[in-house]
Amino acid sequence: MTASEPSAGSSGTSAGDDEVRRSPACALVIFGASGDLTARKLLPALERLSAYGALPPEVALVGVARTPMTDAEFADYCRAKVPGTDNPRWAALTAGARYVHGGYDDPDTYARLAEVLEDTDRTQGTAGSRAYYFATPPRLFGPIALSLGKAGLSEAHGDGFVRVVIEKPFGWDEDSARELYDDLSTAFVEEQIFRIDHYLAKETVQNLLALRFANSIFEPIWNRTWVDNVQITVAESIGVGDRGGFYETTGAMRDIVQNHVLQVLSLFLMEPPTSFHAEAIRDEKVKLLRAIRPLDEEAEIAAHAVRGQYTRGGTREELMPGYREEAGVDPLSSTETFVAMRLSIQNWRWAGVPVYVRTGKRLPARTTEVSMQFQRPPHLPLFPGIAAGLEPDALIVRVQPDEGLSLRFGAKVPGHAFRVQKASMDFSYESFEQESIDAYERVLLDALIGDPTLFIRADEVGRSWRIVDPVLRFWAADTRPIPLYQAATWGPTEAAALIEREGRSWRR
Ligand SMILES: NC(=O)c1ccc[n+]([C@@H]2O[C@H](COP(=O)([O-])OP(=O)(O)OC[C@H]3O[C@@H](n4cnc5c(N)ncnc54)[C@H](OP(=O)(O)O)[C@@H]3O)[C@@H](O)[C@H]2O)c1
Repeated sequence: MTASEPSAGSSGTSAGDDEVRRSPACALVIFGASGDLTARKLLPALERLSAYGALPPEVALVGVARTPMTDAEFADYCRAKVPGTDNPRWAALTAGARYVHGGYDDPDTYARLAEVLEDTDRTQGTAGSRAYYFATPPRLFGPIALSLGKAGLSEAHGDGFVRVVIEKPFGWDEDSARELYDDLSTAFVEEQIFRIDHYLAKETVQNLLALRFANSIFEPIWNRTWVDNVQITVAESIGVGDRGGFYETTGAMRDIVQNHVLQVLSLFLMEPPTSFHAEAIRDEKVKLLRAIRPLDEEAEIAAHAVRGQYTRGGTREELMPGYREEAGVDPLSSTETFVAMRLSIQNWRWAGVPVYVRTGKRLPARTTEVSMQFQRPPHLPLFPGIAAGLEPDALIVRVQPDEGLSLRFGAKVPGHAFRVQKASMDFSYESFEQESIDAYERVLLDALIGDPTLFIRADEVGRSWRIVDPVLRFWAADTRPIPLYQAATWGPTEAAALIEREGRSWRR
């Protein structure tokens, strides 16, 4: 299948006008400008946005961090992090870059930042607008917000805007998420807060909206009458690498399920929004999250939620260490590197349709996909017996890698015998001539433009924690050893049992 006349939308809100999407005049202020996220994601994304012409000369780049640097050194730093480009607009953006060196809770840092911002308004035309990107460890989000508020830097003046952009984790549980919200709210109102889940900015995730609501063939079958079960898999083949210390305090539930999995799930299964406005879409997502029944009873959690941790595995050629052997990991750790859950959605559309989700590190493949398995044919008059061994029909949305869609269905194998085998109609994003836009380019530009569609609202965050918190509490109190799985396998045997006891299996 090819894409003959692409008309892909640029975001949830508008259709097909990537070329003309330009940031308004503003100063983009990156806190933690010396860090990993800035170097690996933000600066390369800014370079590409400038190459497209999305950043006019009235956009100024301002870095803030404790690492001592002058403006010129910060400009060199930015250029060094994006090697091999001769993009003149990037050269111009970085040439005008400013840097404020200081502690994140030091009032003097903010007094100097205010001076720099007044100067960029005067000399670069940033028009009093600011987008603050908090690329620091999350525990600094609250202190930075508080300091910005105290320095009078959180309020917009005149026609300008002030926004704050943050990335997960949004808390550690429902209570700490509320504390973070309270901290941010000391200086900002909800409309100013842009919470990134970069998964939402992936083309295929956005294509879920096009698939469901720009076509008429899918919506009629998008319900319990036709769908037997839904599966979401976020599989990583890598281990924790050098992030063992971070992972020890996080685990797969907080790292992936609470945010990416539940966000993708809500977009995939929500009711049709009344419009493509950000609030209409976010209203439907949160309604879906509210309809997911949290697993509250201990017996229910034990039956419907499985955790696991990888042990040494792989092949003789590629032996992979176990989680407890990784740097920064407690040799007795019970942190989960794998989660599988069965969720149920209590609404008219999805009642009785189980949603199986799983995520893990050191699984046999790197893949993120959402699949919808359809009911088996109710009756096969001509060919008794053939249905039993046949996989159900399925629609598979591949979020990464090889972004695209497949429809799997039964087809007759050529020959005298009547044999039916699974066939597939495949669509790959590669068939579009346009390049997919990197997720960080999308979210940065959307934040600068002020389109909140792909950002997570506070009520979505709270509701997502409400779903995962009881399971995390149950595991924290569970004294039984965590189930183990060998690296490069699909999780512990308990994960297979979770779905197989209901007569189904994970999609391979
Ligand atoms: N890195 C990624 O790929 C990635 C991916 C997804 C989400 N995130 C999120 O993005 C944010 C930034 O991540 P990151 O990996 O860039 O963080 P990072 O490199 O650890 O920290 C960013 C900067 O914050 C300052 N900092 C670090 N630890 C500090 C401390 N204890 N006290 C005060 N300042 C400190 C440092 O700058 P100075 O010392 O110069 O002040 C550092 O350069 C985090 O919220 C993270 O969860 C990151």
